[in-house]
Amino acid sequence: MKEIITSFIIVAGLLFSNLAAAGGDVKAGETVFNHACKFCHGVGRMGAPKVGDQAAWSDRIKQGESKLDDHAFLGYGNMPARGDCNTCSDEDIINAVSYIVYMAKNSK
Ligand code: HEC
Repeated sequence: MKEIITSFIIVAGLLFSNLAAAGGDVKAGETVFNHACKFCHGVGRMGAPKVGDQAAWSDRIKQGESKLDDHAFLGYGNMPARGDCNTCSDEDIINAVSYIVYMAKNSK
């Protein structure tokens, strides 16, 4: 019985960590995006891939969301580190990336 409970806890833990790894909160990310990322990603400024532009994002998304998070944190090409947002928490950045990924996957 003890083993069963232990394995249940392990499986539940794995499931939960997978969900967490799947990314941030899309709704919260929209607010961050509008505040900190839209300036470039809303209009394609400086060659930024536009939000909701599936073609512009599909190859980037193939790298995996955690790679996109890394690039958002550290900067990437013309993309400034953290989108130049001094007031954004780590969670804000992760949420904004999740919003970008969501918009790319759910646009026509
Ligand atoms: C000053 C303009 C600017 C702002 C502000 C900005 N970005 Fe970017 N971003 C870019 C540009 C330009 C690229 C394309 C870089 C390239 O491919 O060379 C980019 C690329 C990206 C990528 C794709 C990286 C990859 O691996 O292909 C992500 C993710 C991203 N930005 C997230 C964000 C988030 C999240 C914010 C807001 C917190 C943000 N950006 C704010 C200009 C900006």
